[in-house]
Amino acid sequence: MSAIWLKDITKSFTVNEENLPVLNGLSLHINNGEFVSLVGPSGCGKSTLFNLICGLANPDRGEVTVGGKADMMAKDVVSYMPQKDLLLPWRTVLENVILAREVAGENKETVKKEATLLLSLFGLEGFHNSFPSELSGGMRQRAALMRTMLAPKPVLLLDEPFGALDAITRTRMQSWLLEVWNKFRQAVFFVTHDIDEALFLSDRVYVLTQRPARICLELKVDLPRPRRTGMLTTTNFLQQKRKVMHVLAME
Ligand SMILES: Nc1ncnc2c1ncn2[C@@H]1O[C@H](COP(=O)(O)OP(=O)(O)O)[C@@H](O)[C@H]1O
Ligand SMILES: [Mg+2]
Repeated sequence: MSAIWLKDITKSFTVNEENLPVLNGLSLHINNGEFVSLVGPSGCGKSTLFNLICGLANPDRGEVTVGGKADMMAKDVVSYMPQKDLLLPWRTVLENVILAREVAGENKETVKKEATLLLSLFGLEGFHNSFPSELSGGMRQRAALMRTMLAPKPVLLLDEPFGALDAITRTRMQSWLLEVWNKFRQAVFFVTHDIDEALFLSDRVYVLTQRPARICLELKVDLPRPRRTGMLTTTNFLQQKRKVMHVLAME
């Protein structure tokens, strides 16, 4: 059973009275517990695709199925971390990370206790009473990720979560994300335009063309888990990277 299943998705926008075709007949799936990345050039429609999956917009044509059944609602299946995810500046770290559970009507004190125990896993121990403005960029992203992961949903949509971080912090966050994912084992659909990042993290990678986007490559990543940063420079890794670079250059 697939956690996400998209069939022949087409989407365009109207911009200045002109038709702007964005997605051109995309079909893909994410299995339960699988880590899949979506790689593609800037502006090709990756965030648009995520909006369609979580029901924030509708496709012109095609089918979106989440949770394996036609009648499942995205809000019950998917936890979405948008590209520009903002923590609420007037809430503490702890109050931010429990937001989804609080909105779902759970007892605030119970959820706070549970979240407090998880803070160290997200590298936020001792910061529960800090405000977002007091955190470094990496910590803010971890808090936003914690908020996304604490929403008890089987699928996570992460839209370029590390895009704004420097290279060193980013590499650390990738290893850390895999550790956390290993504990929670939700299905992850991860958007990035960084090929190394996609290969390092994923079980499979979908590569998109320029707009209007279609899938030009589906690659099953041939790397054992647990992943180690040393793998990034192996011949095996570079061969797979070359394959992705090649299709992107051809498009
Ligand atoms: N709501 C919208 N109305 C009009 N155009 C949009 C809208 N959302 C996105 N677009 C356009 O669709 C294209 C794809 O955008 P987006 O999905 O954000 O790309 P990506 O995430 O791959 O960088 C861009 O040209 C963008 O300007
Ligand atoms: Mg985007």
